[in-house]
Amino acid sequence: ELGDYSHYMQKEIFEQPQALSNTLEMISGAGQLLPGIFGAEAADIFNQVDSVLIIACGTSSYAGMTAKYWIEQVAGIACNVEIASEYRYRQSVPNPKQLVVVISQSGETADTLAALHHAKAQGHAFTLAICNVPESAIIRETALRFITRAGPEIGVASTKAFTTQLSALFLLTLLLAKAKQRLSEANEKAYLDELRHLPIAVDKVLALEPSIKAWAMHFANKHHALFLGRGRHYPIALEGALKLKEISYIHAEAYPAGELKHGPLALVDSEMPVVVVAPNDEMLEKLKANMQEVSARGGQLYVFADGGSSVKSSEGVHVLQMPEHYGLLSPVLHVVALQLLSYHVALVKGTDVDKPRNLAKSVTVE
Ligand code: M6R
Repeated sequence: ELGDYSHYMQKEIFEQPQALSNTLEMISGAGQLLPGIFGAEAADIFNQVDSVLIIACGTSSYAGMTAKYWIEQVAGIACNVEIASEYRYRQSVPNPKQLVVVISQSGETADTLAALHHAKAQGHAFTLAICNVPESAIIRETALRFITRAGPEIGVASTKAFTTQLSALFLLTLLLAKAKQRLSEANEKAYLDELRHLPIAVDKVLALEPSIKAWAMHFANKHHALFLGRGRHYPIALEGALKLKEISYIHAEAYPAGELKHGPLALVDSEMPVVVVAPNDEMLEKLKANMQEVSARGGQLYVFADGGSSVKSSEGVHVLQMPEHYGLLSPVLHVVALQLLSYHVALVKGTDVDKPRNLAKSVTVE
């Protein structure tokens, strides 16, 4: 089943272009997006919702955090993200006009299911599941649903499930924006074109594997790593750190780069590699100032730049130039590069990539 691959994680990373085109199949020839892809009642519900609450665990929660940036910017409605194990026990203030979105690869995660039950018990009727397993528990319990078509994900570290969740959340963003009259026909068409082109753009990132692999040995003998990002790439930094922790057992933390001075800068020295998610977007100049703060303390920077970026390699600054800058969807490309980095660090360390110690694929107990 593994074919030419050494591990399921590697196979699943490389399956992402196909997983994305399968998930996005319904838009292949479409000039416009119809709410029915989320269920028969979607049009009615999207018209009524005034805000979004996303609930999930682990990697799925980082997909939700990325979507928060999209939903607030493009659809112009408030979006909050909650960790399921917290939300289910917290006294929150229910809003019946809120769309509650649960995200789960497996659809069996105990805390996410319990959080959905909690939301419904509090009077939330507008519920939506984004899930990769059509026959899972979660799918049967929501008013609306979207099945990602990543195919079976065997590796404990989630990869293709995450990028397909992001593509589903981007579709949701566009539909909410349409319902709120915030999306012109021209913009809708442009975003759909970008989605259609996404598998090819991911392929170009996968082609960078040899360069990313060359960085792995710089991490394998380290005990800690710091990941930085800003804006919609902060959740991608979180996901990159989680991947590295899970499969290489290197302690990794992620911060929004503007927080450096508020504490984590104290940790930076030559033994702490600092990974920077640095797309050529509106936050790049701010991010460059943050990188300077790291360099000034002798920190080694590993920078994922893209699209003709002005970030240049120098002493202690290693730059990987990713192909194109991909605007709002750039998180999908940057996370693929970070998946490859953690995979190759784990290979150098010789850990059990597909079955990391102490972890299970589906967390069906609390
Ligand atoms: O199946 P789910 O998406 O509900 O799983 C949630 C988390 O357990 C999962 O994403 C976990 O964090 C992964 N091991 C991350 O790689």
